[in-house]
Amino acid sequence: MSPQPQAAVGAPLSRVDGRLKVTGQAQYAADLPHARTTSRGGTPVPEGVVHAVVVDSSVGRGRITGIDTRAAEAQPGVLKVIHHRNAPKLPYGPNPGSLNLPGERLRVFQDDQIRFHGQPVAVVVATTLEAAQHAASLVKIDYDTEQPATALADAPATGEPVTYGRGDAEAALRSAPVRLDMTYRTARNHHNAMELHATVAQWDGDRLTLWDKTQWVQSPRDEVAANFGIPTENIRVISPFVGGAFGNAARAWPHITVAALAAREAGRPVKLVLTRRQLYFGVGFRPAYEYQVRLGSDRRGRLTAMTHDLRAETSRYETFAERGVLSPGQMLYTTPNVSQTYRTVPLDVNTPTPMRGPGYSTAAFPIESAMDELAHELGIDPIELRRRNEPENDQSSGRPFSTRRLRECYTVGAHEFGWNRRNPKPRSTREGDWLIGTGMATALYDTLRAPGQAGVRLDADGTALVESSTSDMGPGTYTSMTQVAADALGLAVRNVTFRLGDTDMPTAPLHGGSLTMASVGSTVQDGCDKLRQQAIKLAVEDEDSPLYGADAADIVVRGGRLHVKDDSARGETYRQLLTRNKRAYLEATGSWTPGRSRSSMYAYGAVFAEVGVDARLGLVRVRRMLGVFDAGRIISPKLADSQAIGAMVGGIGMALLEHTVTDHRDGRIVNANLADYLVPVNADVRDLKAIYVDGRDDEADPLGVKGLGEVVLVGVAPAIANAVFHATGRRVRDLPITAESLL
Ligand code: MOS
Repeated sequence: MSPQPQAAVGAPLSRVDGRLKVTGQAQYAADLPHARTTSRGGTPVPEGVVHAVVVDSSVGRGRITGIDTRAAEAQPGVLKVIHHRNAPKLPYGPNPGSLNLPGERLRVFQDDQIRFHGQPVAVVVATTLEAAQHAASLVKIDYDTEQPATALADAPATGEPVTYGRGDAEAALRSAPVRLDMTYRTARNHHNAMELHATVAQWDGDRLTLWDKTQWVQSPRDEVAANFGIPTENIRVISPFVGGAFGNAARAWPHITVAALAAREAGRPVKLVLTRRQLYFGVGFRPAYEYQVRLGSDRRGRLTAMTHDLRAETSRYETFAERGVLSPGQMLYTTPNVSQTYRTVPLDVNTPTPMRGPGYSTAAFPIESAMDELAHELGIDPIELRRRNEPENDQSSGRPFSTRRLRECYTVGAHEFGWNRRNPKPRSTREGDWLIGTGMATALYDTLRAPGQAGVRLDADGTALVESSTSDMGPGTYTSMTQVAADALGLAVRNVTFRLGDTDMPTAPLHGGSLTMASVGSTVQDGCDKLRQQAIKLAVEDEDSPLYGADAADIVVRGGRLHVKDDSARGETYRQLLTRNKRAYLEATGSWTPGRSRSSMYAYGAVFAEVGVDARLGLVRVRRMLGVFDAGRIISPKLADSQAIGAMVGGIGMALLEHTVTDHRDGRIVNANLADYLVPVNADVRDLKAIYVDGRDDEADPLGVKGLGEVVLVGVAPAIANAVFHATGRRVRDLPITAESLL
């Protein structure tokens, strides 16, 4: 078939859902029931919704010895107070369909055990939010308290470590002319999306509808079905808009089951919104790590050995381990001898979860800092050092790279950033009180892909509706899928509507791991290709069509009009074709399953940062940052920039501000709010820029994309940390880099 002209893909479109968002018409889970709700497209709307408020454990470990709910129940408007003594026993069956981890997931209100500070211990249902909040404060709970262990540094690892090795790293280290041994620490971080986690649950007999904040509508469906022992077909999950998630709305956290339980017990639709404080223990987080790097190299900076010893926090009831944290150490640089040991440390905390650039952004800080330390030790430029260790293939698998344009990222980045003007000597540039420094780091992220389906319908009026049950937590799925569909159908963007976020739609994979564009994009393209081919076939076989008898392979569609590729005068519109054939619409189902790859597929990047450090106060200010990314083809440049710039902001947080602090005496998180958990604000964000070395990766997927949303975060924190070293001569190996660590 003739390739379709690409008009929408690659164009810097604004978000197609932008107007809905800025005018408040986009309905998030917590907005329901919405004053302006209309039952569009048959989507149900909950009615008679009451409110649930969760009571959290005020101790970090132990058991509940007494619950007094009398004062709460006496409050006007209170319908139910549910806790482990009166809650029905739920089956909590196996959930093969979702993101469960080794261990046993938290079972809400099923026993008297307290596993972490903030664990849900009761829920109050009332007719108003205020009544539920007040009553929740009146629930009196007695505990038999034990000392919780919440400090990673003090607790032992248990279980078998995950290990990897090639060559003989210990022997190679012993004989290396240059050896370095450093330990880095990264703080626990919380995703802190702007939108709070929220669920509205409504039962109709044994059927349940959940309006939820989720990155994957199948996830709460499967989890709640397993927990209640009902078929997944009985549950519909609706989630058209998500106000940021960064990985934290992928798993179905306990509050979703609480909402469903509360709705069932109260016999009313229930809305449950976690507070900002509850987010710090009600849902997952990026775990803290200790990461020891030992490296050996020759005097010219060629790595001979690297060892990676990691310890990371997890909960006592589940083992969270992220394989991505090991990948960079295995394949980023030419290293003949590698040894890795990754241990998880069970603590009295809730279970961690992936957070943006999961694993990779954690590993990039120690590895890219260590490379900077080696460059300094040897007096070699940091980019030159990386070039000298650039591998020809993936040494962990022996596979060729599908595409790896990292050298180009270095070259373009160095040129654009003005790297060559850099005086390599630390603490060599000063402007008044400010020490100025620059640093860089490499970024990479796995090109993940997963099978999915999409439905496409073209109406006789020449407009199309495309659906897939994926999500849009912010990267702009609505827009990018519309672009792909518009080009594949040969329609203007305004004539294509893309819908998502409903389990009634064709199945899509998790909206995470930067796999949506490759995976859902390819299914959308497939469905639209099939539909276009159907229309072309209809035309060339229709004696009344000007295209009758033409070779289908020669026909393209542009602006809703089918025509012979080299004879644009010969053709007709979809509308003419369908109307004449008395077809109200054409339909097709798209699908795509990634083939087994023979190549190593990653997205790459090089991140450059310039910081100023106040020599007297230790304050760090990021003055400018540049990211150059090899993420394959860029579908939507404006949204790509939104991802890349947003990730730089997030990376400033990871490097300089974000740190979830626990009081280890009782396991309480002490900064569980946005006043004390610091995130970058506008004044922290100055000159940020992203460049893409645009180009297809045809092995990855039919669209040629490699995923962008994660890789853009990965190199940011180490680039800033390296710039801080260059500015001050002080190497800080703990994130976040605070003022006190520089004094
Ligand atoms: Mo991303 S951490 O997979 O949402």
